[in-house]
Amino acid sequence: MKITGTTHKKAAEWVEQVRQLCKPDSVYWCDGSDEENTQLCDMLVEKGTYIRLNPEKRPGCFLARSTPSDVARVEERTFICSEKQEDAGFTNNWKAPAEMKAILNKFLDGCMKGRTMYVIPFCMGPLDSPLAKIGIEITDSAYVVTNMRIMTIMGAEVLKRLEDETQGGGNPKRDGYGDFVPCLHSVGAPLEPGQKDVNWPCNNEEKYICHFPETGEIISYGSGYGGNALLGKKCLALRIATTKARKNGWMAEHMLILGVTDPQGRKSYITGAFPSACGKTNLAMLVPPAPLREKGWKTSIIGDDIAWIWPHEDGTFHAINPENGYFGVAPGTSYKTNPIAMDTIKKNVIFTNVGLTDDGDVWWEGMDGEPPAHAIDWQGNDWTPEKGKEGIKCAHPNSRFTAPAAQCPTLDPEYYNPEGVSISAFLFGGRRATTMPLVYQSRDWKHGVYVGATMGSEMTAAAFGKIGQVRRDPMAMKPFIGYNVGDYWQHWLDMGEKTCACKLPKIFNVNWFRKDAEGHFIWPGYGDNMRVIDWVLRRCRGEVQGVETKLGVSPAYSELDTEGLEGYSEEQFNVNMNLSDSEWQAELESQTELFNNVGDKLPAELESQRQTLIAKFH
Ligand code: OXD
Ligand code: MN
Repeated sequence: MKITGTTHKKAAEWVEQVRQLCKPDSVYWCDGSDEENTQLCDMLVEKGTYIRLNPEKRPGCFLARSTPSDVARVEERTFICSEKQEDAGFTNNWKAPAEMKAILNKFLDGCMKGRTMYVIPFCMGPLDSPLAKIGIEITDSAYVVTNMRIMTIMGAEVLKRLEDETQGGGNPKRDGYGDFVPCLHSVGAPLEPGQKDVNWPCNNEEKYICHFPETGEIISYGSGYGGNALLGKKCLALRIATTKARKNGWMAEHMLILGVTDPQGRKSYITGAFPSACGKTNLAMLVPPAPLREKGWKTSIIGDDIAWIWPHEDGTFHAINPENGYFGVAPGTSYKTNPIAMDTIKKNVIFTNVGLTDDGDVWWEGMDGEPPAHAIDWQGNDWTPEKGKEGIKCAHPNSRFTAPAAQCPTLDPEYYNPEGVSISAFLFGGRRATTMPLVYQSRDWKHGVYVGATMGSEMTAAAFGKIGQVRRDPMAMKPFIGYNVGDYWQHWLDMGEKTCACKLPKIFNVNWFRKDAEGHFIWPGYGDNMRVIDWVLRRCRGEVQGVETKLGVSPAYSELDTEGLEGYSEEQFNVNMNLSDSEWQAELESQTELFNNVGDKLPAELESQRQTLIAKFH
C-alpha cells in the first residue's frame, strides 16, 4: 500500500518542518512492503553500497562496507540534552537543548540536498502492547531503511495505527498513546548537482547522536552505522525509553530474555544484563548440553539485547523485547559457539563489514572450519590467511548481521504476546578472572540493585582503558541511561516496591569467566551455563536450599547438575566459588570511585549495602 503522507497532524507538520530544513530532492514515505524493499536493495546494489551475496549460498542477503571511520557507536559524540546538567549525570555528555539545537540546525540546514528523505513509521514492541512505542524515523539513508525494516515493525500498518489512535483506536493503555517519538537522522553528506555519491556516505568531521529527554526527540547526524543510525535501538528503546520508563513506572533495560522449559514441562523466563564481550547473544540463544537436552531441558529466545519490563496486573514483572531483529556481532559466531544464530542468518540478512569469499558468501574470524584461501576483507582489499597471521582482520571486530527475529529457529511464540512474559529472575554478570564466584543470589531486591549497580567487567579490547582493567558498567547500561545514573538506581529501588517481594524477579550474579591459578577458565561456559540457570530456576521455586555465603546464597556442589560435565570436579567448583577476603576488600574499595562520581544523587541504600559487605569481608 503506497503512502504519500499522513492525517496525523503533528507527524505531518514535523515531516514538513524537517523537509524545509534539510532540503532533500524528494520525500518518500516507506510502506514496509516487499516490493519497496526489493526496489531499495536493487538501488543500493546499483549504487555500490550493497553487494548481493550468492543466492545459492545466502539467498536474499547483502553485504555493505562502511568507511573505516564509521564502524561503531560513538559514545564520545553521544549527548543527553536535558534542561539541567544534573539530569544527565556523569555517565553522559551533556549540552542544554537550546544550545544543541542551535548547533544541529546549522548542520541540518540543507544536509539532505541531492538525496531522498525517507520517512519510516515504525513500532518497537508488539503493536497492541501497553509498552509499544511508535516512532517516525526520517533518514537520508536507504541502508537505514532496509535495516529498520528488519529491526522494527515498519511501514503503512504502523502509520495507520498511529492515525487510528487519534480516533480512539488501538490500545488506549499504550504508554504514548496517540503520539510518536520523532527520530531525525542524516548521514550529513549533501550532494552538489552532478556530484557522484560514495558507497558509504557519512560525515567524517562531525558526528552528533543527541537525545532530548524532556521533549522525547532524537537527532542523529553524521554517521550511518548501527546504533548511531538505526534510531529505534539504543536511542529510542534505551536512552529515550529509560526516561519514559522512569516517569511511568516501568524499566527499559539492556537485557536478553531467555525462555527455559524444564523436564516437567514448566516454562520460565529469565533476563540477563551483561556488558559487551560477555556472550550475551550466545546466552540468549543457548543450547543446553546433550545430557540436559536428553532429560528434557529446552530453551527459546524472546530477545538478545533489550527488555522492557513492567509490573503486570498479575502481580509479577512482565517483559517484552521491543526489537524485531538481531543486530549481532559476527566475529566469533560459529556452529560451535552459537548454532542458533548461524541458522538464523542463512537468508534475508544484511551483513556489514564482514569478509566476502570468492564464491560470494561471507566469512569472519571465528567461523567454523578453515579460513578461505582468499577473500576480500571488510575494507575491500585482498585477504589471505597469511595476512591474518600479520594481524590484518578479514572482518571488522564490530562487523554485524542484521537478521529478522522471525527466522530464529528457537524464537519463543510468546515473543509476539503484547502482554509479554512473566520474569522469574534477573541475571547480572561481567567478565571477571578473579573475585566473583560462578553464581550467587542476592539477599533481596535492594541488595540485587546494589549488585547490578556495581557490576564491572574486565576489558578485552583497549577501547575503554587498559586490557584486564575492570570497567564499572552499572546494569550494563552505562552508555544507555538517558538520565542521571543516581536517579536510575533510585528508580530500580522504587520498582522493588511495586509488588510483593515474593513476586519480584530474584536477582543473581553470574561469572562465566573466572580463571584458575594457571590462567585457565574454570567453567566451560556456553551451553553448560544451562546448569547454572537450572539452579537459578530451582532457587526461584524454593526447590533448593543453597548455602549462605558472605555475598548471598550460592549452590552446594551437589545442587549443580554436573552430569556429563567432564573435568569439572568438586575441587574446581570450590575454586570457582571461593571468596577471598583480600580480593573482596579491594573490590569494595574500588567501587568508591563510581559512587563518588555519582555524588549527591547516590541513593543512601546503595552505600549502606556496600558498608554491610565491607563489614563482612573485614
Ligand atoms: C550493541 C551494544 O550493539 O550493546 O548491542 O553495543
Ligand atoms: Mn547491546
